[in-house]
Amino acid sequence: MDGKPLLEAAGLVKSFGETRVLRGVDLAVPAGTVSVLIGPSGSGKTTVLRCLNALERPEAGLVRIGDVSVDFAALPQQGRRAALRAETRLRAQSGMVFQAHHLFPHRSALENLLEGPVVVQGRPREEARAEALVLLERVGLKGREDSLPSQLSGGQQQRVGIARALAIRPQVVLFDEPTSALDPELVGEVLAVMRDLAEGGTTMVVVTHEIRFAQQVADQVLFLDGGVVVERGPAAQVIADPREERTRRFLRRLLDPL
Ligand SMILES: Nc1ncnc2c1ncn2[C@@H]1O[C@H](COP(=O)(O)OP(=O)(O)O)[C@@H](O)[C@H]1O
Ligand SMILES: [Mg+2]
Repeated sequence: MDGKPLLEAAGLVKSFGETRVLRGVDLAVPAGTVSVLIGPSGSGKTTVLRCLNALERPEAGLVRIGDVSVDFAALPQQGRRAALRAETRLRAQSGMVFQAHHLFPHRSALENLLEGPVVVQGRPREEARAEALVLLERVGLKGREDSLPSQLSGGQQQRVGIARALAIRPQVVLFDEPTSALDPELVGEVLAVMRDLAEGGTTMVVVTHEIRFAQQVADQVLFLDGGVVVERGPAAQVIADPREERTRRFLRRLLDPL
């Protein structure tokens, strides 16, 4: 270890049309740690994750994962093809788990896991298949590899989504509210898989409103509001003893919505 965080973002600025959605977001995630991003709806949480995964191109800012980095302000000068190549390379460093699972509906759980490693990364199919079976077992879906998404519960589908994110062998896994579209009784099984990954040393950035999960699993919690990180620190401090009034207000509303 050279002491540098595995993932670093600095000065992310992103606008949609006239609206500036990120106003200089910084983030540092050490290897093997879990960072939880909280904040009100519209504060920019999804946009941060999408910038880390190069699904959005910020006007300014730098993202580095391992030894792959992109300086987004400098991209336009590099020409279209070089820019796309840089973004594709950055994208391959992280796996994304979406709010709704985004699985291919007409492909089995196993086939959904093969798309990234075989089609995108060009790895040998047999090797990818063996690894995919291990991943499905890891998320508790041994024996369900041939099931179509429609034959699985929402919680099972989301666990396929997690296994699929892992199938590309990412350095970091990004989760965007992975349980918020689930029926309440299915939330626990997905959080259990995420907890297991965290305990196994997977580096994770998680957007979630599951405060108990954040308290128990997060090494660092960041509170985002209006496109800036208003407060960050150890989970115990930010959640139990927030310094900023905005954080306090948000957590109060979250924990006691009535
Ligand atoms: N593709 C887009 N086009 C236009 N506006 C967008 C787009 N994506 C997000 N936004 C806007 O950016 C703001 C932040 O969105 P988002 O990152 O999804 O917030 P969060 O995930 O915290 O709810 C919102 O006001 C949203 O409407
Ligand atoms: Mg969002």
